Order: sequence, then C-alpha cells, then structure tokens
Amino acid sequence: MTRCSKSWALAALCAALGGCGYGPSRPEGDAAGPRLYETCATCHGANGEGNQQFRAPAIAGLPEWYVRRQLEKFRDGHRGAHPADTHGLRMRNMVRTLRHDGDFDAIIAHVTAMPAVQPEPVMGGDAARGREAFAPCVECHGANAAGDVGRDAPPLTSLNDWYIVAQLAQFKAGTRGTTAGDATGASMRPMALGLADEQQMADVAAYIATLRGQ
Ligand code: HEC
Ligand code: HEC
Repeated sequence: MTRCSKSWALAALCAALGGCGYGPSRPEGDAAGPRLYETCATCHGANGEGNQQFRAPAIAGLPEWYVRRQLEKFRDGHRGAHPADTHGLRMRNMVRTLRHDGDFDAIIAHVTAMPAVQPEPVMGGDAARGREAFAPCVECHGANAAGDVGRDAPPLTSLNDWYIVAQLAQFKAGTRGTTAGDATGASMRPMALGLADEQQMADVAAYIATLRGQ
C-alpha cells in the first residue's frame, strides 16, 4: 500500500468512526451540541444554571460572540492558565476535550440557545451601595447590565453573584486579563482594580441582580 492510499484508508476509517480529532468539521454539524453538552452539564448543570460547589457559572443564554471568545481564551491560554487559577484550569482542561473545529460551533449553538437563567443571589451584598459602585460599569456593560458587543462587554444579569465576585477578584488579582494578547480582559481589569474589596464586589453583584428583566 502506498503512503497516500494508507492515509486515504485512515481517513475513511475516521469518517466511519465519526472522526479522529483532526477533521475540519464534525459530520453531524450543530446536531452534536446536546450530546457534547452532557459533559458540560456535570459542572454547569443540565440547564446551564451553574453549580457553586464546582465554581462553574451559569452559562445558559450567554451571547454567541462571548461564549466563543471565552472558549478560545481557555483553549489558547488567556484564561485558566495562571498557576493560581485552579477553577479556570478545570475549565481549560474541558475545552481541550473538544477536538473537532465543528465541536466549538455545535456546543456554542447549544449553550446560547438555552434560556438565560436568574440564579438567586447568595453573597448577601447590599444592592443600594452596589448601585453607586456600578456607575463606572455602565459605559461598557450598559445601564441594565445587558452587555454591549461593540465594547466586547458581556451581559452580567444571568450570572451567579458568587461568580461575579470571583471574576472581579480574579481580574483584580491579575489571574484573569493579564496575558499578552488578551485585549478585552485588559480593558476590564482596571475596573476591578477600582473596587475596594470583596464586600464592594458583592454589593455590585447584588445591584446587577436587581437589573434583571429591565
Ligand atoms: C469540571 C467542571 C467543568 C466542566 C465539565 C465544564 N466547565 Fe465550563 N467552567 C468551569 C468553571 C469552574 C468555570 C469558571 C472558571 C473561572 O472561574 O474562571 C467555567 C467557565 C466556563 C465559561 C465562561 C463563562 C463566562 O461567563 O465567562 C464557559 C463559556 C464555559 N465554562 C463553557 C463550558 C462548556 C461549553 C463545557 C462543555 C464542553 C464546559 N464549560 C464544561 C467548569 C467546568
Ligand atoms: C472599558 C469597558 C468596561 C468597563 C467600564 C467595565 N467592564 Fe466588565 N468587562 C469588559 C469586557 C471587555 C469584559 C470581557 C472580558 C473578557 O473577554 O475576558 C468584561 C467582563 C466582565 C465580567 C466577567 C463576566 C463573565 O461572564 O465572566 C464581569 C463580572 C464584569 N466585567 C463586571 C464589571 C463591573 C462590575 C464593572 C464596573 C465596576 C465593569 N465590568 C466595567 C469591559 C468593561
């Protein structure tokens, strides 16, 4: 058998098995989403509602452009690669299990089609105090925290308050938003540096929860 016909045989076998991890796209297309999501559900929940025990946030209904960018960041080492970021590392390892280019499209289509959730706040923040601290955030995330694709700023209203606090702390500590080439993370970081402490972060998260449905 020539080298060329061997690789043909391998390609045919891979196609029959549903791919060997290097194909340009997954044959089932976006229909693979629900099956691929079964793995994600163990941490993010069956309806993408998040799970505090695993520190995995609500992801249901986040916009397509934001989910894609975050998965790319985890893949490319702009998130979850800092040695102190143990939660991010768990997610980074998960992204590495998506082997086809088509897996990204399929899983993103599935996650973004799930209805957004409104997880109960658990951090005990003071929404009235948080309203003041939220004033500088409006420029990018919008007055009702619905996000602004033009500023690369995601919606915040469907996130768990404990996750908002955790991410603000991460931006502040520099375990998120500090890698070379992470321009969008870098634009967010100074905002977290402007928040005094975890209490103020919890206050902002409590205020964001009051903006739901507006
Ligand atoms: C082992 C648990 C685990 C599994 C399984 C998992 N994730 Fe995650 N995921 C996390 C954690 C923890 C975070 C938060 C990381 C951090 O704190 O920065 C996260 C964050 C994310 C984010 C970023 C959310 C945001 O608002 O920025 C997206 C998107 C995401 N996961 C999608 C997925 C998808 C899609 C899958 C399935 C392919 C998946 N996750 C599987 C644990 C997991
Ligand atoms: C200059 C624009 C800008 C301002 C002002 C800003 N942000 Fe952001 N924010 C961003 C961008 C861009 C991202 C996405 C970063 C990324 O892609 O990793 C982000 C991400 C976040 C995240 C992470 C969301 C997630 O799903 O992981 C939180 C939480 C957040 N911002 C809260 C705030 C708060 C609270 C304020 C005000 C104190 C604020 N932001 C002000 C641009 C901004």
